[in-house]
Amino acid sequence: MQPTWTAVDNYLKQHLVKPDVFLQQTLAFNIDHGLPPHDVSPLQGQFLGLMAQISGAKQILEIGTLGGFSTQFMARALPEDGKLISLEKNAASADIARQNIKRSHLEDKVTIIVGDAADTLPTMEAWVPFDLIFIDADKQNSLLYLDWAVKLSRLGSLIIMDNIVRGGTIIDEQRDPHAEGIRQALNAIKNNDHLSATAFQTVGEKGWDGFALLRVTKVPTQLRS
Ligand code: DHB
Ligand code: MG
Repeated sequence: MQPTWTAVDNYLKQHLVKPDVFLQQTLAFNIDHGLPPHDVSPLQGQFLGLMAQISGAKQILEIGTLGGFSTQFMARALPEDGKLISLEKNAASADIARQNIKRSHLEDKVTIIVGDAADTLPTMEAWVPFDLIFIDADKQNSLLYLDWAVKLSRLGSLIIMDNIVRGGTIIDEQRDPHAEGIRQALNAIKNNDHLSATAFQTVGEKGWDGFALLRVTKVPTQLRS
């Protein structure tokens, strides 16, 4: 089904996503520099931008920058005084992303912080609370990132997690560590009374995958100083 999914995505993209030289340059630059094609699709990027706009987000946190493709959709959705912090473990990826962000004239709105998110998430005090948090980093640590996303939230914050279906492997008996990481996060959501959640499966140019969409309904006081 992949060719059909891709063809339909192309059709939808042509109708719904305005051609954009900066985004095209970003994708080309990322390929040239050998980044894996793990960006969101343009249609998914528009979804992220719409979520940011609809929710009125002014402070956005992204966990996992890669080449800064999704970053740009969300950064553009910010108001004049909005800010996006993006955390990236890999210094080379962060460098590529910074060049993309600069070329796209978004450097005033975006700050990319290099380091293991396990180390950089505890240093986000100056920016809290975030209105929208997009989790799109290594899947093994999904639970850790979800816990931090809740800690750095306010009542009503949105949390979006990418890659929660992974071609259906989340229900496989064979335990792939990436799928296992996603499952741990989903289990935590199941046991958390302070999140209202849904997920949708997606097919398209990125294959079969999905997003979880969470709203923080109550921030435990002990988690936010
Ligand atoms: C992978 C990671 C992603 O964030 C994504 O959107 C697709 C694939 C991966 O690591 O395989
Ligand atoms: Mg992803």
